[in-house]
Amino acid sequence: MKNFLLLSFLSIALLNVSCKKDEPTPMQPEAPSTDEKVEKLISEMTLDEKIGQMTQAERASITPDEVSRYFVGSILSGGGSAPQDDSPTGWANMYDSFQAGALKTRLKIPILYGIDAVHGHNNVKGAVIFPHNIGLGCTRNPSLVEKAAKVTAEEVAATGIDWTFSPCIAVVRNERWGRTYEGFGETPELSSMMSEAAVKGFQGSSFDSPASILACAKHFVGDGGTSDGHDQGNTVVDEETLRKIHLPGYISAIKAGVGSIMVSFSSWNGQKMHSHKYLLTDVLKKELGFKGFLVSDWLGIEQLPGDYKTQVETAINAGLDMAMEPGNWKQFIAAVKDLVNTGRIPMARIDDAVRRILKVKYDMGLFEHPYTDRSLLALVGSDAHREVARQCVRESMVLLKNQNNLLPLSKNAKNVIVAGKNADDLGAQCGGWTISWQGQKGNITQGTTVLQAVKKAVSSNTKVTYSSDGTGAAGADYAIAVIGEGPYAEGQGDRTDLRLSTDDIKVITNLKNAGIPVVTVLISGRPMIISDIIDKTDAFMAAWLPGTEGQGVADILFGDYKPTGKLSHSWPASMSQIPVNAGDQVYAPLFEYGFGLSY
Ligand code: BGC
Ligand code: BGC
Repeated sequence: MKNFLLLSFLSIALLNVSCKKDEPTPMQPEAPSTDEKVEKLISEMTLDEKIGQMTQAERASITPDEVSRYFVGSILSGGGSAPQDDSPTGWANMYDSFQAGALKTRLKIPILYGIDAVHGHNNVKGAVIFPHNIGLGCTRNPSLVEKAAKVTAEEVAATGIDWTFSPCIAVVRNERWGRTYEGFGETPELSSMMSEAAVKGFQGSSFDSPASILACAKHFVGDGGTSDGHDQGNTVVDEETLRKIHLPGYISAIKAGVGSIMVSFSSWNGQKMHSHKYLLTDVLKKELGFKGFLVSDWLGIEQLPGDYKTQVETAINAGLDMAMEPGNWKQFIAAVKDLVNTGRIPMARIDDAVRRILKVKYDMGLFEHPYTDRSLLALVGSDAHREVARQCVRESMVLLKNQNNLLPLSKNAKNVIVAGKNADDLGAQCGGWTISWQGQKGNITQGTTVLQAVKKAVSSNTKVTYSSDGTGAAGADYAIAVIGEGPYAEGQGDRTDLRLSTDDIKVITNLKNAGIPVVTVLISGRPMIISDIIDKTDAFMAAWLPGTEGQGVADILFGDYKPTGKLSHSWPASMSQIPVNAGDQVYAPLFEYGFGLSY
């Protein structure tokens, strides 16, 4: 990252000039390897400096001066935690001021700044927002997912930030879960295929591009398998099943060189993952050979049994390397110091954690280029980036019904009705983790709503009328209804009922009663129960949470791009059928995993 390429070009050029072939080069000390640099640095570090590297604070709870005084090694932005100047330049300024704090320390170890860039650089106004992973899973196109991650990396790097808490590679087995949309789908195959692609896109091949950033596969392990889809719940499966369903995504992420992995809030058979030495150390680090570092989830340590010191002791001895302790990082530092001094955490464990973190910082080129490369700023939200997102939208749409070949729609109709609450709502289209943690309805950033996209797609002679409830549609050539969920994130999206709202059902009923052909576009973070409307709509398309590039939805509706998307989830016929997943012994979903029409 950060001017890395330019530098390597220059040094290769210089080498070519300075050493003539065939002549033995004059005795020169060999440049130390990264491992040697790391060992040398560790040998010079005090305990306070080491603990600082293991500490991650939230930006709003720390100042650049405190970064220097406490040797803090990492900062994060929680969901929606933006600097006062929320422009890309404002972010870069904030980053650089924290970095300046780190570089004032005795050993000048740069900070690593992390953020949830989970569908584009989604905390930054004006950044391009991609479809959430559930839609990307439907593309079945890992090279497109790699491209999307690369674009995201460029926008993140442009604001200085080094690290995204992404990809979420949860294998989601129960659609009640509020984080269903964050995973690529319900099968280990999708998780593996896309985790490798995303890690490559973010990190490049060993951080070879000036705009590559550190990836973080999450949440290790079994987050998508909890009983009844409870967020942060308990995954009750035997080890064989855990390995078969929930582990493969991590194996491919490691193969792709993922530099960090986040521990899950959830438990496996009753034991919290943040305390699970067998899975964190024996399986992940030893058996699978993970060489990067493990970061805890937001205050995840505090969910362990015992007093604070015991919680910290348990997590670190289980294999945790960096602690996401947003507001209470000072308390964390004091606890670790005491635990080491009283022998409850061995020094070797501290050194292992610090070694892993420093190795990643060196591998990324952070020591050489700690500050923001501002030449990248113009890329944030650029047309070229929006074009990649639009392609992701096109390929993620899944056409589930197309009676009488209603699609593609004619662009030359006289009268078109667009209806439903999600037709002209950019915030609903983007979902959670957009500008704010939970997301928000309305005009939250720059982009194109479905209604705007439809207006752009049709001929200049076509009259497009918006009707929120679907009334007044009689006489129109056809109607496009855009319904579904509003934004949510994490546990706030857990649901026991995924049926459509009565308002949404009314929209479709009103349109149907007008006697015109109806296509329904569902904007949602997961499959919903559509038995109330499926017979009343001629065509039905799952659009998931497409993000800012609504034109991609219109491309499919009007035949500018033929639908290719395939379901990343089995589509449940009823609530009582959930969980229903590919490979079940009794399997009768409304639409099978992998289903998707074209025209
Ligand atoms: C979420 C993580 C996220 C972290 C930082 C947690 O609540 O579970 O996925 O990376 O917060 O925002
Ligand atoms: C933060 C999120 C975090 C969540 C955890 C929120 O306040 O903004 O980043 O994931 O808390 O509960």
